Amino acid sequence: MEKEISVNGNPVSYFEEGLPEALPVIFIHGFPFSKSMWMRQLDALKNKYRPIAYDVRGHGKSGAGKTDFSISLFADDLLAFMDVLKIEKAVVCGLSMGGYIALNAIQKQPDRFAGLILADTQCGADTPEGREKRMKTIAFIRKNGLDVYAEESLKNLFAPASFQSRQEEVKFIRKTILGTPDEAICRTLQALADREESCSCLAKIKAPVCVVVGSEDKITPIQAAQKMADAIPGAKLVIIEKAGHLTNLEMPGAFNDQVLKFLDDVRQNQLKK
Ligand code: MLT
Repeated sequence: MEKEISVNGNPVSYFEEGLPEALPVIFIHGFPFSKSMWMRQLDALKNKYRPIAYDVRGHGKSGAGKTDFSISLFADDLLAFMDVLKIEKAVVCGLSMGGYIALNAIQKQPDRFAGLILADTQCGADTPEGREKRMKTIAFIRKNGLDVYAEESLKNLFAPASFQSRQEEVKFIRKTILGTPDEAICRTLQALADREESCSCLAKIKAPVCVVVGSEDKITPIQAAQKMADAIPGAKLVIIEKAGHLTNLEMPGAFNDQVLKFLDDVRQNQLKK
């Protein structure tokens, strides 16, 4: 069910499914996507959990506001979103930028996390070359709009085989990118370029963590996932075969199985306490 609430004075659009009293599982999309990328996960979880997917500021149907975007601001939004929904603790699943947001938020309020799923993401900041590339992309989009940017992005987002086997998903992601306002994309690119590393904080994470990565992820490859899993106490690493950067869309069955397995473990451990 699609709903809207005000968070930090900004309208936030979200889907909420499942059982109101069950463990909340909050999904955070990557850049530049929207909550709609999680439809299959909401469906898979709704009989046992309370899955929620929201649009990050400036994306989907959420407002952008006037404040400069930053990963820290997006993390404050996540924690305030939980406050408004009166969610004390949730399992949070963030893909790529969603993972950056979750890793920032867990440093601020670790007790709000019953568990963390880090999908196709990384803990490092941008390299100087990566930052430079984002600045060039901002200038390019301001001059030329989103068409070329969208096509170039798609090449890196999906595993080669997915262009045949997941044509609907490719179409959906193209449409989502083109439907995001140019200015929101540029402001988010700046936020991504300016983000701080979170690798040095991973050893302090106490919540159960599952790191998921597509075997063919070119943007945040297996080594980046391995690095996080090695640094987080007790974290488990799952590699989803034949998927690129968008594991939940490219291999929804395998992705959902892993998420459900992880959530069952989290619930079992909560019952033991
Ligand atoms: C994403 O999918 O969120 C982006 O690839 C993240 C990034 O560009 O660093």
